[in-house]
Amino acid sequence: MYKKLIYPIFFILFSCCCGADDSNINLKDENNNYINAHGGGILQYKNKYYWYGENRIKGNESGVSLYQSKDLKKWRYLGVIFKSNEIEPKSHSFFIERPKIVYNSSTNKFVMWFHVEEVSSNYKTAKVGVASSNDISGPYKFLYASRINARSHPINGNYVGSKLANKVNKDHSNIGQMSRDITIFKDRNDNAYLISSSEDNLTLSISLLSQDYTHTTGKYIRVQPGGYNEAPVMFFNEGKYYLVASGTTGWKPNRARLFTADKVFGYWKNIGDFVKGTDAKNINTTFQSQGSNYFEFNGDCYFMGDKWYPKDLSNSGYLFKKIIFSNDQSPYIK
Ligand code: DGJ
Repeated sequence: MYKKLIYPIFFILFSCCCGADDSNINLKDENNNYINAHGGGILQYKNKYYWYGENRIKGNESGVSLYQSKDLKKWRYLGVIFKSNEIEPKSHSFFIERPKIVYNSSTNKFVMWFHVEEVSSNYKTAKVGVASSNDISGPYKFLYASRINARSHPINGNYVGSKLANKVNKDHSNIGQMSRDITIFKDRNDNAYLISSSEDNLTLSISLLSQDYTHTTGKYIRVQPGGYNEAPVMFFNEGKYYLVASGTTGWKPNRARLFTADKVFGYWKNIGDFVKGTDAKNINTTFQSQGSNYFEFNGDCYFMGDKWYPKDLSNSGYLFKKIIFSNDQSPYIK
C-alpha cells in the first residue's frame, strides 16, 4: 500500500519539475487550426513574437506563413507572406524550405533567407533565396536566388576533408557552393551569418552576411568537412557559440550533434550529445525531431524542431524544448 502510494506522488513531483516547461507553447492558432509553419523560427519584434515557416498544403510547400502572438499561447494567423511562385525566373517552379527572417536595425528591413529548390531537380538546385520587406508581415520583395560564395575561398584554409568534399568544393567554386538546410545567426555586434549544409550535405559552411544582410560577403569557413550535418541551429551563451546539427537521414530524425567554438569563425569542436536523459529513443532521435531554430522567451532559451512526417509533410509536428545549461555552461535538452 505504502509503496503503491509513494510511487505516483514521486512521479507527479518529478514530472512537474522536468516536463511541463516545454508544453506551454500552443500549437494551434486562435481559430483552432494547427500552426502550419514548418522548418521556420520564432522572431521577437517589439513586444510580439512571430512564428514563421513553410506553409505546407497536402505535403506541398506553397510559401512562408506567419503567426503573431504576445505569449506563445494565442496565435493569430497573418497569412502567407511570401509565395514560392514569386521566385524568379517565374517560368520555372520552385519550392522553399527552412525560411529564416532576420531584422536589420540599420536598414529597418526584415530580410528573409530560404533554401530554394527547383521542383523535380531532386535537390540539385541547392540555392539560397533572399527577399526583404519593410514590415515583418510583408509584402516581401524577391531579391534573388543563387548558390553561395562563388569564387571565394574559405578563411579556414585549404579544402581539407573527405575526397568527395574536396571535389565538390572545387567543382563549384565558380558558380558558388551548394546550400541546402540553412539558418541565420545574428551576433551581439549585429553581424549576421548564414549557416548552410553545403558540398552535397557533406560540410557545413558559415558565411558572413553583408551589413544589410542581403548577400554573403565571400568570407566563410567550412565546419566539420565530410561530417554530414544538416538542420543547423546556432546560439550564443556565456562567451561561447553553439551549433546543433542533425545527421543527414532525409526526413527521418537522428541523434543531434553539438558543436562549440569561441568565435563564429573559430574552430568548431564536437562536444557530443545535445539530448540528455535515460530514454535511448529520445537521445537517438532528438525527440523524433530535427532542429529548426533557437529563440528566447521570458528569460528562457528554447530549441525548436520539426517532427517531420514524410508521408504527408503538412502533418508534421513540432518540438519545443527549454535549453538547460550545465555547470560548465554546455547546453542540453532533456
Ligand atoms: C531534412 C531537413 O530537415 C529538411 O529540411 C529537408 O532538407 C530534408 N532533410 C530533405 O530530405
